[in-house]
Amino acid sequence: MTHLECALCNKKFAQGEIHNLCDCGGPLLVRYDLARIRQTWDRQQLPSAPNTMWRYHPVLPVTQPNSIISLGEGMTPLLPIARAGARLGAGNLWLKDEGLNPTGSFKARGLSCAVSMCHELGVKKIAIPSAGNAASALSAYAAAAGIEAHVFMPRDVPQSNFIECKAYGARVTLVDGLISDCARIVSSRKDAEGWFDISTLKEPYRIEGKKTMGYEVVEQLGWRVPDAIFYPTGGGVGLIGMWKAFDEMEQLGWIGSKRPKMIAVQAEGCAPMVRAFDRHEQRSEFWQNAATVAAGLRVPKPLGDFLILEAVRKSGGAAIAVSDDELIDAGIRLAEDEGIFVAPEGAACLPALEKLLYSGLLKANDEIVIYNTGSGLKYLDAYAARFPRSAAGELD
Ligand SMILES: Cc1ncc(COP(=O)(O)O)c(C=O)c1O
Ligand SMILES: [Zn+2]
Repeated sequence: MTHLECALCNKKFAQGEIHNLCDCGGPLLVRYDLARIRQTWDRQQLPSAPNTMWRYHPVLPVTQPNSIISLGEGMTPLLPIARAGARLGAGNLWLKDEGLNPTGSFKARGLSCAVSMCHELGVKKIAIPSAGNAASALSAYAAAAGIEAHVFMPRDVPQSNFIECKAYGARVTLVDGLISDCARIVSSRKDAEGWFDISTLKEPYRIEGKKTMGYEVVEQLGWRVPDAIFYPTGGGVGLIGMWKAFDEMEQLGWIGSKRPKMIAVQAEGCAPMVRAFDRHEQRSEFWQNAATVAAGLRVPKPLGDFLILEAVRKSGGAAIAVSDDELIDAGIRLAEDEGIFVAPEGAACLPALEKLLYSGLLKANDEIVIYNTGSGLKYLDAYAARFPRSAAGELD
């Protein structure tokens, strides 16, 4: 890592110091001396590297190996899902199963990286506004690091997230409102409380952990770049991170100039990115009364909206919304077809894929990867509505 750079005004910031946003309000991105890394690090070395996302440590920001707080995140399976693909008309379909990460979601990647940097830089107290899974992951990694975690989530967050955070010993506040209301509370109290604000994109390192999803998928495909990536988009950091990873891999000489079509998938009840994409706008507008069972997609105004839109547009991709009924149906059908029980957010990728095959943006023989960002086991309350039980067994 050489320095940090503002994504809006390109101002540079030194490494080895604690940072949140740029003075202009822009998020900071980590930059590396990739030309130098390229001379000593080759993709041929990866088979003997750790079987976690830390296998890519030369392009991760931690400088001291003993700063790394790892619970085994990353290197999740990339599974062929032929039966589900055949049902939709996709002949070459893969699912990257992020539900197998510690705390059952891809949020483990971002928070392993960000908490490791907090550990390295001596941060003692961290606060997070979260739709749920990021809070679970922060609580776990903070516990592992011996750092105090303060968690702010909507009151109706999935039960799993609340219980996990409590079990990991975090200080939990349930807020009447959405993640945006939680963010306001963290922001107004952090100075007085001495908290480091680890909100999505308000600190530079979660995106670095999440970008490893991009490195991994290409490594697992034998260094082939897929034709399309479907990503359930809330704050959009996974999508922005993967987009950054492809550029870095090209500079490392690992891939060429091909990029996947980046598809941002949202729920109809909260689709600010789809609206901005359809209207050809550079930024999104706050989505009023956001509501969806896909709790991770309930982000009414992503801070990195301009970066999401840039990646989607430059890649020739799309932003598309599906209804809650469509995504829950798809989750259950996928479980029956493939034996994989996905989070509602991940399930949303399937009806989105169906729509884009129908529209002609994607072709039947394209190599397509959908990201299941979490385990269905974290959303028993969302799926339970489809499987009501009586005391004696099953209500039919
Ligand atoms: C399961 C799941 N999928 C997707 C998302 C959205 O992630 P991102 O902020 O990278 O768009 C979240 C965020 O909470 C989530 O928990
Ligand atoms: Zn700036």
